[in-house]
Amino acid sequence: MPDIKVINEVEAMQEISEFLRLSGKKIGFVPTMGYLHSGHLSLIKKAKEENDIVIVSIYVNPTQFLKGEDFETYPRNFEADYELCKNESVDYIFYPDNLQMYKRNHMTNVMISNITTKLEGEIRPGHFIGVATVVLKLFNITKPHSAYFGQKDAQQCIVIKRLVEDLNVDVKIEICETVREENGLAKSSRNVYLSDEEKENSKVLFRSLELGKSLILEGVNETDKILSEMGNLIKQNIPGVEIQYIAVTDNELLNNINELNNYTGNVLISLAVKTNKTRLIDNILFYKN
Ligand code: PAF
Repeated sequence: MPDIKVINEVEAMQEISEFLRLSGKKIGFVPTMGYLHSGHLSLIKKAKEENDIVIVSIYVNPTQFLKGEDFETYPRNFEADYELCKNESVDYIFYPDNLQMYKRNHMTNVMISNITTKLEGEIRPGHFIGVATVVLKLFNITKPHSAYFGQKDAQQCIVIKRLVEDLNVDVKIEICETVREENGLAKSSRNVYLSDEEKENSKVLFRSLELGKSLILEGVNETDKILSEMGNLIKQNIPGVEIQYIAVTDNELLNNINELNNYTGNVLISLAVKTNKTRLIDNILFYKN
């Protein structure tokens, strides 16, 4: 197995990507903040299947964390990530530091309106400015044909698709299914913060999403009833949980759907909870006739 090339500098990565493109290679890109798990690996596998070259970025982007959030303590383990990437035959890891990514006098940010102030954006104001800015920078650095994101971060997927469409970014966005633990808990680097008991209790999040989905597909009309049944199920199973939001929306503008009987199309049920110190998000996406 050939060693992966680890690139720390923006200009070097750009030169390599340009050369690969000119040589007719198709580049697949998987942006990550590291501490890779099987969710990331599923993105890498898909990128591998569909491209000649796979670039994975590992960068914990400070600008998408709010003051008081877990930027400092966000789990990091480059050696383990390197081995996992090697097992998947990744070609390049782009692994910059903050000075490479945000030069002195950095002043430009990408602000997408409307959809970025709802749900996650309401709880984490400014978060998506950080995400959109770094993702656009990473696209400009790695010059991919396709980029791979996990459905687990449903709103991030919507935001990135908007960014690409609105700014005519020439990258195909591929959304891959959420990978789950056997008990249904969505894989996340932040799951490392959970005790075994919390992990076990948190399986109810996916159960509650499935409950919401089945109530909608059975024809329940009032969204409030669905939200309260889901909320009750979560509260009964996670002691002391703080439910930050549960929402039933469309999957493009993230508008609330209040009268379900009048609605046809994709339905996204998404939620965020805080259990002890850990914030967990999850969602389920399905089509309603
Ligand atoms: O989903 C993530 O890990 C991050 O938000 C991303 C897309 C790598 C940007 O920092």
